[in-house]
Amino acid sequence: MFIDELMLARALHVLGVVMWIGGVSMVTTVLLPAVNEFSQTADKVTFFERIEKRFAWQARITTLVTGLSGFYMLFVMDAWWRYTQITYWWIHLMTIIWVIFTLMLFVLEPLVLHRWFLEKAQNHPDKTFALIQRMHWILLSISLIAVIGAVVGSHGGRFF
Ligand code: HEM
Repeated sequence: MFIDELMLARALHVLGVVMWIGGVSMVTTVLLPAVNEFSQTADKVTFFERIEKRFAWQARITTLVTGLSGFYMLFVMDAWWRYTQITYWWIHLMTIIWVIFTLMLFVLEPLVLHRWFLEKAQNHPDKTFALIQRMHWILLSISLIAVIGAVVGSHGGRFF
């Protein structure tokens, strides 16, 4: 068996994506709808926070692994020029998604979003959870489009 550095980076990249985007999918399609079934706001907030707190750590680590392995692949393949070609839109999309999540998980969530969520959830629970649900659906949808684009594109497929 022979595995070179590019294959290893690709394997780590996909592993990171599976755990990270899979987790986002679970939160969006299972956790948030389950939260909505609680009648008491306090129960909603406690349940959501407990699970999201654990996932946030996993997401931070898997986001790091995905980003580092992604940039490493671009470095090994010397493929930075792809950022200048629209055919490689999926490289742009992957990078944009990574930047959004990195900002949210490492900067906005600890500094601003957590406090904002607790305050808003107390005063307007339905509106707040509906907004969170909508944001999760948007992020999940663009992440899945990036996955499809990246798998097809990495294996020689062209969309236009
Ligand atoms: C900093 C961010 C990222 C960079 C620099 C990056 C870079 C790359 C590179 C260079 C490849 C290999 C392309 C090739 O072999 O031609 C790749 C593959 C891939 N990436 Fe990313 N990526 C990033 C983030 C993401 C994100 C956020 C996702 C998921 C939403 C993702 C999903 C994938 C998938 C599914 C593949 C295809 C693996 C395969 O089928 O071989 N990447 N990425």
